[in-house]
Amino acid sequence: MNTAERAARVMARADELATHSAMEGGILRAYLTPEQARVNAIASAWMREAGLRVWPDAAANVCGRRLTDDDDRPAVLLGSHLDTVPGAGRYDGILGVLVAIEVADRLRDADLPFALEVVAFGDEEGTRFGTTLLGSRALAGVWKPEWLDLVDADGVTLRDAATTFGIDPERIPEAARTPESLVAYLECHIEQGPRLEAIDAPLGVVSTIAAAERRMISFRGEARHAATPWELRRDALLGASEAIVAIERVARDRDGNATVGRIRVEPDAVNVVPGFAEFSLDLRDATAAARDSTWAAIRHELHRIAGDHSLDLDVTTTHVAPEAPCADHLRAALKAGISSVTGEDDPVDLVSIAGHDAMAVAEVTDIGMLFVRCAGGISHHADESVLVEDVAAAIDAFEATVLHLAATHRA
Ligand code: HGY
Ligand code: MN
Ligand code: MN
Repeated sequence: MNTAERAARVMARADELATHSAMEGGILRAYLTPEQARVNAIASAWMREAGLRVWPDAAANVCGRRLTDDDDRPAVLLGSHLDTVPGAGRYDGILGVLVAIEVADRLRDADLPFALEVVAFGDEEGTRFGTTLLGSRALAGVWKPEWLDLVDADGVTLRDAATTFGIDPERIPEAARTPESLVAYLECHIEQGPRLEAIDAPLGVVSTIAAAERRMISFRGEARHAATPWELRRDALLGASEAIVAIERVARDRDGNATVGRIRVEPDAVNVVPGFAEFSLDLRDATAAARDSTWAAIRHELHRIAGDHSLDLDVTTTHVAPEAPCADHLRAALKAGISSVTGEDDPVDLVSIAGHDAMAVAEVTDIGMLFVRCAGGISHHADESVLVEDVAAAIDAFEATVLHLAATHRA
């Protein structure tokens, strides 16, 4: 198959995986669900067709290793994730898995100084249990036993979900890879931002992945009749509303990245002053120091607002990830790979504000990321789209990157 045919196959396969969803009218695939089981089986078949020995690891990720690598040489690991947010596009994560499979297929008989493996992670988004990167953190050997007690929206624990899915929850840590078993991890992913499109570049290299934190923030006041005079109210939703506007102001002033994506109100009745309001806060910045400085300023505002409205404030941190710098030699290999395809002297470097499995895998090996232009930078939405020509360029650049690594590899 030529590259154009492979790119067309990637697009068709992304369309096929998009049909496996837990929601009507959109794409939703969460960790340890029947939808994940179906796409794992499909991706496993595609990996076998690509000449890989395929196995599910103990954390329900799908792993593959070239059949010719029937030894214990350390591997260059290519991959991304197959899970999604609710109402997702069809390329976030999926593109990286499919491009990795095409490159493994094309290099199935290549004489490389390392093994070549592919991984399809099962939970990059954290959609079901709130804590993100569960599949890649298991592979990285940083699984936390308390995650088994995480509960989804239906009250199902991760422990029970794993058992229902068919894996032993107590054995998930066995998915861990050792540093000695890996040479590097490379991930191809849509940019999920507008910068490549703005400079008319199909591909770019990630310099670092932003530091991130997720929290649930709640205000508790008093539920009262809608007839209650202003001066007697302790309105939790009013406090939350002021807080959300303050969060935007504080983060914008610092060129930080803050998102309130979820809010819940009790008793949630049109004629009752809300006594309780809880909302999520996703906070990111190029460094943990910058992120933490923004959080300190936000927290000051939250306490001020709680005082103004006589509300009780509670904050629970649900996810913390430091920034993940990409390894210089992998950035150089990716630039060489891109240059060999596009002819650019110095392909663009980009900070990834979006989080990726590579952040977790950085705990166990060096990481590198190839960004692919996506229309309007749109992602986490059905309008997410890529050009088949850019997918072709990504396949060629990703393969050239692996070959550049092979040429420069010192065992
Ligand atoms: O949230 C993110 O940046 C990623 O899509 N999980
Ligand atoms: Mn995503
Ligand atoms: Mn992603």
